[in-house]
Amino acid sequence: MKIKFNRLFGKNDNNVNNNENLSLQNGTSNAQAPVIKPILSIRNLTKKYKDRYAVNNISLDIYSGQIVGFLGANGAGKSTTIKMLTGLASITSGDAYIYGHSVKTDFEKAISYVGAMIEIPEFYPYLSGYNNLKFFAKLSGGVALSRIDYVATLVGLKNRIKDKVSNYSLGMKQRLGVAQALLNNPKLLILDEPTNGLDANGIREFRMMLKDLATREHISIFISSHILSEMENLCDTIAIIDKGQIIEVKPLEEIKKECTIAGSQFIKCNAPNFAGKTIFDKFGVKCLIQGDKVFFNSKDNYMLSQVIVELTKKKILVYGAGNVDYSLEDVFVNIVKEHNKTTSIS
Ligand SMILES: Nc1ncnc2c1ncn2[C@@H]1O[C@H](COP(=O)(O)OP(=O)(O)OP(=O)(O)O)[C@@H](O)[C@H]1O
Ligand SMILES: [Mg+2]
Repeated sequence: MKIKFNRLFGKNDNNVNNNENLSLQNGTSNAQAPVIKPILSIRNLTKKYKDRYAVNNISLDIYSGQIVGFLGANGAGKSTTIKMLTGLASITSGDAYIYGHSVKTDFEKAISYVGAMIEIPEFYPYLSGYNNLKFFAKLSGGVALSRIDYVATLVGLKNRIKDKVSNYSLGMKQRLGVAQALLNNPKLLILDEPTNGLDANGIREFRMMLKDLATREHISIFISSHILSEMENLCDTIAIIDKGQIIEVKPLEEIKKECTIAGSQFIKCNAPNFAGKTIFDKFGVKCLIQGDKVFFNSKDNYMLSQVIVELTKKKILVYGAGNVDYSLEDVFVNIVKEHNKTTSIS
């Protein structure tokens, strides 16, 4: 298992030219605009176990500097995808390309750009964090001792790296897992549910650590989770997988906007029933009254402001207004529900 795990971070020759992922369209004229190539390109990737598709024909591109969240419920196919990308599961059909190298036919080269942490990282508990890293560094070869110190600092374990792993908290083990994945200077970090089991504070700290190291190390991150809010303030893009299929790829900012756009708006006032009737008569939208709040679906903030003007004209005292924020999880569940309404997946 450990040897297998170590294969996840092949030796990077460190010769990746930052321009390697830039090519000229058609490769003919300098006058043409450069085409940015993805660092990771998943193409029609499929995994079938007996008669069941765990991953069904998924395609996704990740570009330099991107942090992409791979979001899906339990059993959606996240780990299977990641295992195929890292050689821990065979590919039924399709392929993935890392810096243009096929995972299927040029695995050693493809994986040399990758650092990965899959599920709960395993370490020798009776060895220190430092000696575990040293062990893995030796296995993969060519890692300078100074790199161990460096990655330990990067993941915030500098002061505890000489402690035995058996004395580490779960969060510290996860950090050590990331340190291990970073040993070979990867360009792409693939993390499978790295915050599983961490408390809210642990998740926040881990997220900040990842964001910081993505900036410092100039690496892209592909990170899976079943909780959208874990990706907040970390990922720029979210790819949603459901029943083995990618059903949505969207900037996180857009998903966040949906939290308000998809929701209704409300006003708080001293005469909610009268306000509800006024809104219905004037704007033709149905209202729901709860206490001193009147909920309604307005098209935009302009309409909301017009509602306030109208109510004020009627001498209704409006002392609150806003958008009903759906939580990120609500939006995630809605996206999956909507998709399932419009498609039938066997
Ligand atoms: N070795 C296997 N043999 C048969 N089926 C498998 C195997 N591994 C995974 N599966 C099935 O593939 C599907 C996807 O599993 P996968 O582990 O990729 O989901 P996941 O999104 O990582 O879920 P979780 O959030 O629980 O980790 C599930 O239906 C699972 O039962
Ligand atoms: Mg999983």
